[in-house]
Amino acid sequence: MAEHPGGRSYQVPGPSATDENSILKKANVPTAFPAVPTPAWGHGASGAAQPWAPIQGLPMGACGPTAPSRARNEGRHHEQLAPTCSACGEEMWGSTTGIFAPRASSLENRHPFWQPPCLSFPLSPFVGTAVLLGVCWLTPEQTAGKQKPYMYTQGQAVLNRSFFPGFDTPSVKCTYSATVQVPEGFTAVMSATSWEKQDNNTFVFKMSQPIPSYLIALAVGDIVSAEVGPRSHVWAEPCLIEAAKKEYDGVIEEFLAVGEKLFGPYVWGRYDILFMPPSFPFGGMENPCLTFVTPCLLAGDRSLVDVIIHEISHSWFGNLVTNATWGEFWLNEGFTMYAQRRISTEVYGSAYTCLEAATGRALLRQHMDNTGEDHPLNKLRVIIEPGVNPDDTYNETPYEKGYCFVSYLAHLVGDQSKFDAFLQAYVNRFKFQSITADDALGFFLEYFPELKEKGVDSIPGFEFDRWLNTPGWPPFLPDLSPGEQLMKPADELAELWAADGLNMEAIEAVDITVWRTYQLVYFLDQVLQKSPLPEGNVERLSKMYPKISKAQNAELRLRWCQIVLKNNLEAEYSKVKDFLHSQGKQKYTLPLYRAMWAGSESARALAMETFSATAPQLHVNVQNYIKKILGLEVVED
Ligand code: BES
Ligand code: ZN
Repeated sequence: MAEHPGGRSYQVPGPSATDENSILKKANVPTAFPAVPTPAWGHGASGAAQPWAPIQGLPMGACGPTAPSRARNEGRHHEQLAPTCSACGEEMWGSTTGIFAPRASSLENRHPFWQPPCLSFPLSPFVGTAVLLGVCWLTPEQTAGKQKPYMYTQGQAVLNRSFFPGFDTPSVKCTYSATVQVPEGFTAVMSATSWEKQDNNTFVFKMSQPIPSYLIALAVGDIVSAEVGPRSHVWAEPCLIEAAKKEYDGVIEEFLAVGEKLFGPYVWGRYDILFMPPSFPFGGMENPCLTFVTPCLLAGDRSLVDVIIHEISHSWFGNLVTNATWGEFWLNEGFTMYAQRRISTEVYGSAYTCLEAATGRALLRQHMDNTGEDHPLNKLRVIIEPGVNPDDTYNETPYEKGYCFVSYLAHLVGDQSKFDAFLQAYVNRFKFQSITADDALGFFLEYFPELKEKGVDSIPGFEFDRWLNTPGWPPFLPDLSPGEQLMKPADELAELWAADGLNMEAIEAVDITVWRTYQLVYFLDQVLQKSPLPEGNVERLSKMYPKISKAQNAELRLRWCQIVLKNNLEAEYSKVKDFLHSQGKQKYTLPLYRAMWAGSESARALAMETFSATAPQLHVNVQNYIKKILGLEVVED
C-alpha cells in the first residue's frame, strides 16, 4: 500500500516559461521585521564537506521589478517582464532556474542581500539539534521512526529569510524552482506544482504559480507516500503511512470539490498532506500543493479533519488572495475560518459545524479573558512596529474575530448563496495578488452597491472601522443555535459536575459514549471554565469517563491536562508530562505551561522539569515562548 515515490513525477499546467522568471512586487513593501542574517551558504561556504544538498533557483536577492509588478497586480498575468533592480535600477538577468541577479560586479556593496545563485547546505550534521529559525534539523530520536534524521522549513511568518535570501514579505509574490540533492535513503518534498526525481537522489521542483515567500517549504527525511484521492497523496515516515492513509483515504477529494463549488477553481494542481515529526509547532501549515500537519491529527477516527478543511480553505484565502502585511493577518485567517465552516456545513451539516465554531468562540473568550479585551492585539488590524516579529502577535483574534466579521458581512447580505457568489468573485478579482482590508471591503461595497448606498460600513456600533481598529469582543456573533442540540446536553452535564453535591443519578443518565469528539471538547471547555470544581469532583469525573481521562485524541488530552492543572490534581500530573513529551504543537504546549506556571509549587516544578527534558525537541519559537512564560532568559539572535 505504502509506495516509495521513486521516479514518479507530477505536473500541472502553469503559466509560460517566461512567467517563471517573474517577481511580483507591490509598491509599498512593508518590512516589519529586520532581516535575519543569512547563513553561510553558497558555493564553498563550508569547504569540501560532503554530502551537500544544493538548492538552486529559489528567489534571489534584493532585486525585483517595480513597474511591471503593478501591471501584474492589476491582473495582466502572462506578459514578459523586463526587471530592474529596485535598489540600483540596473537590468537583471534571469536564468532558466528562475533566479534573478543584477549584472553588477560589486554585488555585495550595492546589493547587500545578494547571494550566489546556488545555495548549498549540509544535510549531514544532524548532531544535536541545529536550528536556523526557519530551517529545523531533527535528530533520528526526534522523528516518529527514530531511525533517520529529518529536516524541514517553516516559513510563516518571516522565518524563510533564514532559508533563502529574497523579499520576505507577503506583499511580494513569485514563482520558484529548486533542485535538491539528498543522501541515499532520503526523500525531498516541497510546496511545488511539479516534482520530479532524477539520478543521484536529486529532486527537481517547480512552483508555476506566483506565491509569497512564506509559502515556500521543504522537508527531507525518510518519507514515503500513499494515494488517498485522484489528486492527493499523504506523505509520512514509513511507520505512520498506513495510519495516515487510513485517516484520510477517500475524503480529501470531497473537501476540494466542495471548495471548488463554493470558491472557484483549485489552481494548485495537487493537494497532498505531509505528516510532520511530533515537534511540528502547528496543527497545519498551508504550504501550497503540500500541507504540513502535526501527526496529532492521526486520531484514528477522522475527528480532527477540520484542520485539513482549514488548510484546504487557504488554497483560496491566503494562498491565492494574500494579506499584503502581517498586520492584516485576519484577511488570511478570518476568511479561511469562514470558508472552512462553509465547507464543513456542506459536508457535515450545520449542527456539527456550529458546535465546532462554538469551541472556536470559547478559545477567543479564553484569549480575551487572559489578555483583557482592550489589548491592542485584540483588533483585526494590528500595528506591527519595526523590529517586532509578527509571530509574536499571533493569537485567536484574527481567526475568530475575523470569522465573526466575515459572518457579519454575510449577515448584511442576508442570503447565503449571494454571499457565496461574492466570495467567489472576491477570489477571482484578487487571485495571485496581495491585498489590504481596504481592498477587500472596498470590493465588498462595490459588489453590493445597494449596501454601499445604505451606508452599511458606518452603522453605529458596527462600523467597519470599529471592526478593524478597536480592540474587544466582536460586536456581532453569528448564530450558532443549529448546534444547540449538541451543546445543550454538554452544557447541562458540565453544570451537574460543577455542583457541590453531585447528583449521580442525573449524571449516570447521560450516555457520553455516543458523543463525538467535538461534543466532548465542548463539554470539557465548560468544565474548565467552571474549574476548580468542588473537592473530589474531578477525581470522580476521571474515573467515570476513561474515554476522556485516558483519551489518545490530542484535543481531548489538551483539555484534560488543562482541567488537571486548574484543579491541581497531582495524581494525574503524569498525563500532562506525557502529553508534552509526545508532541510540540504551540497551541497545545503554551496553554499548559501557562497553567502550570499559574499553579502550585508542584505544578511549577513540573513545568521546569518537563521543559528541561523536552526543550531540545521543540521548535525554537515555541522554546522561546515557554522561556518567557517561565521567566527564563531568551537569547535573542
Ligand atoms: N497558517 C496557519 C499556521 C501559522 C500561522 C503558522 C501563523 C505560522 C504563523 C495555519 O493555517 C493555521 O491556522 N493552523 C491552525 C489550524 C486551525 C485553525 C484549524 C493550527 O495550526 O492550529
Ligand atoms: Zn490558517
